[in-house]
Amino acid sequence: MRTARLTVDPAFRVGPVRRHTFGSFVEHLGRCVYTGIHDPGHPTADADGFRRDVIDLTRELGVSTVRYPGGNFVSGYRWEDGIGPVEQRPRRLDLAWHSTEPNTVGVDEFMRWCAAAHVEPMMAVNLGTRGIQDALELLEYCNVPSGTHFSDLRRANGAADPYRVKFWCLGNEMDGPWQLGHKTAREYGRLAAETARAMRMVDPDLALVACGSSGTTMPTFGEWERIVLTESYEEVDLISAHAYYREEDGDLASFLASAVDMDRFISAVAATADAVRAAKKLDKRIHVSFDEWNVWYRLRAESPPPTGDDWPVAPVLLEDRYNVADAVVVGSLLISLLRNTDRVHAASLAQLVNVIAPIMTEPGGRVWKQTIFHPFAQASNLASGDVLRVAIDSPTHETAKWGDVTDVDAVASHDAETGETVVFVVNRSTTEDITLEVDVRSLGAVRVLAATTLHNPDHTWAATADDDSSVAPRPNATATVTDGALTAVVPPVSWSVLRIGR
Ligand code: AHR
Repeated sequence: MRTARLTVDPAFRVGPVRRHTFGSFVEHLGRCVYTGIHDPGHPTADADGFRRDVIDLTRELGVSTVRYPGGNFVSGYRWEDGIGPVEQRPRRLDLAWHSTEPNTVGVDEFMRWCAAAHVEPMMAVNLGTRGIQDALELLEYCNVPSGTHFSDLRRANGAADPYRVKFWCLGNEMDGPWQLGHKTAREYGRLAAETARAMRMVDPDLALVACGSSGTTMPTFGEWERIVLTESYEEVDLISAHAYYREEDGDLASFLASAVDMDRFISAVAATADAVRAAKKLDKRIHVSFDEWNVWYRLRAESPPPTGDDWPVAPVLLEDRYNVADAVVVGSLLISLLRNTDRVHAASLAQLVNVIAPIMTEPGGRVWKQTIFHPFAQASNLASGDVLRVAIDSPTHETAKWGDVTDVDAVASHDAETGETVVFVVNRSTTEDITLEVDVRSLGAVRVLAATTLHNPDHTWAATADDDSSVAPRPNATATVTDGALTAVVPPVSWSVLRIGR
């Protein structure tokens, strides 16, 4: 059997485990909002029509922030359509997803949902068809206590206290030709800078996210970040990154190693930001908001938006069904986000419900967990304290896309207060069991508190509404600690969580 040697040491600290790493995303897209989080006829619906069963799973998932209302949707959105008496709200064409937006859910309902789900809102403003004025008015509506037109309007709509939204995305994917109001880097960089400067006049304590690239394969990747930050560095705090991965042409090995791309993406954006910083002779650092990431099979039948005369409300869109390999990739992407915690200060799994989502619903019916729910919930609920880089000496295998990659990838968290250390590990080999030998001598006398592995002999197993639990993280009885060495056997295509402590 192959052996991978790992070393975990609190001296290998990268930075804190950030709650904002475990954000998600709710877009007015397909059935994410309508019949997803919102389903007034559902037996568990609350007074706002929000499904309690979805709220419960959102909490179980351990989501920290939720980005809203898009996504591509936001670039044509008029936020004021979604406030005031529901029966007076206009129905609008949603050009991004060729749908009809009924505006039954808007900013006030979303804020109430956030409160119920115990999540922090992360708002996006429309810099596609709109601009600075609209962003200012939405900010005033959300964050100004009272005494002005929009703050008093919010109060009249039932919210006496301001929402105090801290994180704001300055548009969405403005580098993408598919985006309404798509711009060049120079055009967007200027707009982002001026929008940010104006928003800070209203509220200086915001965390403002400029749009970075929609993926590393964008022709403008790199130059986009350099130009946008050259224009806006002084005004913004973070730059976004978006990445979706999928298994292509049956190449499971490359797919399982998708985190190679995420690592490179983060370091390229950080390097570009630092180059702008050097050129401008500034101390301030720009951080990364990885505010869309997931597995997404874009070419599947459920992904394309409707066409022609049909402008449905909440059509079935992007309802990917995730298998065990997809969950292992999601786990490996979480490893990448965590080990880059010095530069990644926020991230959002795209999305939360029904649309490329860990949580699925039947309209009026059942709620269920996809396979990708498990690694996210475990990482979010168990990582605490500091993130530790793990030194990895692992067998490798060849992949078509990324060359030689290690069979094993891992990161750890260490909580000095509780004394608990958690090792998050993926085995990316498609065929081999691997014995892990983890040097934990630096942690003193520790024992295994719990060890689980998510794996199935058939890695294409996918959950359904009828069975979302027969494949899930299960206790890994091979995990033991002897003489400062944690050993465990991890099967091919698997995600494991090893908790050790006193
Ligand atoms: O998350 C689905 C879509 O992917 C978002 O609307 C867009 O920002 C991205 O292209």
